[in-house]
Amino acid sequence: MKNFISAQDVNDIHALLKKALEYKAYPLKDKLLGINKRIGLVFLNPSMRTRLSTQIAAANLGMEAIVFNVDKDGWKMEFEDGALMNGTSAEHVKDAAPVMGAYFDILCIRTFPSLENKEEDYSEQIINQFIKYAGVPVVSLESATLHPLQSFADIITIHELFREPRKPKVVLSWAPHIKPLPQCVSNSFAQWIIKWGMADFVITHPRGYELDSKFTAGATIDYNQANALEQADFVYVKNWSTYNDYGKVKDTNPDWMLTKDHMLKTNNAKVMHCLPVRRNVELSDEILDSTDCVVNQQAANRVWAAQTILSELLKATN
Ligand code: CP
Repeated sequence: MKNFISAQDVNDIHALLKKALEYKAYPLKDKLLGINKRIGLVFLNPSMRTRLSTQIAAANLGMEAIVFNVDKDGWKMEFEDGALMNGTSAEHVKDAAPVMGAYFDILCIRTFPSLENKEEDYSEQIINQFIKYAGVPVVSLESATLHPLQSFADIITIHELFREPRKPKVVLSWAPHIKPLPQCVSNSFAQWIIKWGMADFVITHPRGYELDSKFTAGATIDYNQANALEQADFVYVKNWSTYNDYGKVKDTNPDWMLTKDHMLKTNNAKVMHCLPVRRNVELSDEILDSTDCVVNQQAANRVWAAQTILSELLKATN
């Protein structure tokens, strides 16, 4: 593994899963692997879980982690090739990324999409420029189109919770939201669960919210939420803005918010969400506060997902 920005960077999800569970059982088993190595956690956008879990993961491997909030503390960065920088941007990624590469052994980047320019967002312009210019392995802490550490933690969670000798039915269910959100978590979850191959995977959303088929090919798409939820073992609730007519909120129908009534159709499903969640908009209090809800387990598993990936990168570069 050279960089980690997508499920495509992973050869064997099953082997990765096994390693993550070993780290969960023995967090300090490789406590010297990253000794004298430094990791940069660079945030162009806000975060809580990703920042903290990756810092803990790095510490478990003996690495020193330095957090840099570019959005608050850094120079405004330019990403356009050939830009005439006479506006608000003070530093080009071509100049900033090699400096970061000199300071860090692994560079982790969080960057959100603009939701205005689909071509630019879906080309992963920003994270790809860091890969091009940093000269060290780059890890996505969520990029314009994907959130691989979240998805890996989600797979760990499903694997831990489902012990029956059959594939679970996993439903990704669109939820209402007051503002346009990225498609990253949903794209990424689809990409990982399809590649994993250990679940019957259904996506349900209102018409107009179709995701990029390059991530969802292999999933069943059902526009009828009630049908989709029938006998579900897991329901992953997530809002996303429209992909085709890019970055819009087209439907805010509150009936799509998962409630106890929706859950009656499921097979006592566990409810997932990546967090942060808007209570009583995306998910009802009654669901979030119930024992069916596994969001804290997902968030806790972010540590083992991050530790596994950092360990793979350290082993590849040692
Ligand atoms: N799920 C997730 O990535 O959370 P943060 O945005 O708080 O990092």
